[in-house]
Amino acid sequence: MSYLDATNDLYKEAALTPDVGLCCTTNPIWELPGLKIPRIMQEMNYGCGSTVNARDLTNNPKMLYVGVGGGMELLQFSYFNRQKGGVIGVDVVDEMLEASRKNFIEAEAQNDWFKSDFVDLKKGDALNLPVDDNSIDVAAQNCLFNIFKAEDLKKAIDEMYRVLKPHGRLVMSDPTCEQPMNDTLRNDDRLRALCLSGSLPIAEYVKALTDAGFGTIEIRARKPYRILDPKNYPTDELIYIESIEVAAIKDPMPEDGPCIFTGKAAIYFGSEDYFDDKKGHILLKNQPIAICDKTAGALADLGRDDIFISESTYHYDGGGCC
Ligand SMILES: C[S@@+](CC[C@H](N)C(=O)[O-])C[C@H]1O[C@@H](n2cnc3c(N)ncnc32)[C@H](O)[C@@H]1O
Repeated sequence: MSYLDATNDLYKEAALTPDVGLCCTTNPIWELPGLKIPRIMQEMNYGCGSTVNARDLTNNPKMLYVGVGGGMELLQFSYFNRQKGGVIGVDVVDEMLEASRKNFIEAEAQNDWFKSDFVDLKKGDALNLPVDDNSIDVAAQNCLFNIFKAEDLKKAIDEMYRVLKPHGRLVMSDPTCEQPMNDTLRNDDRLRALCLSGSLPIAEYVKALTDAGFGTIEIRARKPYRILDPKNYPTDELIYIESIEVAAIKDPMPEDGPCIFTGKAAIYFGSEDYFDDKKGHILLKNQPIAICDKTAGALADLGRDDIFISESTYHYDGGGCC
């Protein structure tokens, strides 16, 4: 049995018997006017962060959500769209599709603005999406891609890239880990399916996205997620796992490489009103400007003593240099 079969089996079980502890999300449940998340959806929240961000959801975007779980985030996306078929939900596990279908009926009973047919549920695989090329404005996945081994991860990201329109965005939440993991952990299909032993360091995760062609990357959040300890897991050392929220935007790849925002800012505090680097960046005196890591490097290389460059906060929320 491959690790993908083991994953399907695990999520079949998680669909038939909701498991509150399956993923430990640190996210509070969304509270928005008129939005009620049924308890069953909360119990089936198998994500590790949020992929729903109002900033992505202007102008009625056509949305795709891969790996539906209990349907909570699809309901949240629908809140911003409210159109028949506005969100396509894809999952490879029949039982999960069926469970989410029931949950949407419950959501309809609790939310007078919501109709089940706002969500178009489709059976399909993240590695071969049943979705047309260039047809989606916002694609999302939460806590699925970390399960995939390198070759499958590449396929899954390429698929998302394929279905997105130019400038469309892929929003994701996944566990990441900066420590090496031993092969026993890496090859444990169940731990991998549980989103515990497949995670990559952030730089590798981001590289997988830029290798697919995404020209802009935003790291929006980085949070503590789980500990693998030697008493409970096959490891000699304590392993710390974090979760990140990331957007990968299908902008053309700049000639000098991708723009990766990790929450850095530059502040010019010199004697002029502003500093112009003659490469399109104007730094107004004493005003922080969000910069991508590439611009941060270029500004640092100038060696000036009147420009401060902050460390990455891993909390980027828009605007800035590129
Ligand atoms: C960890 S759960 C996350 C569920 C949901 N995104 C959430 O945040 O609650 C992974 C989801 O991906 C689905 N899944 C697993 N393998 C898949 C694949 N190859 N293609 C599409 N969906 C898959 C599972 O059935 C499950 O719904």
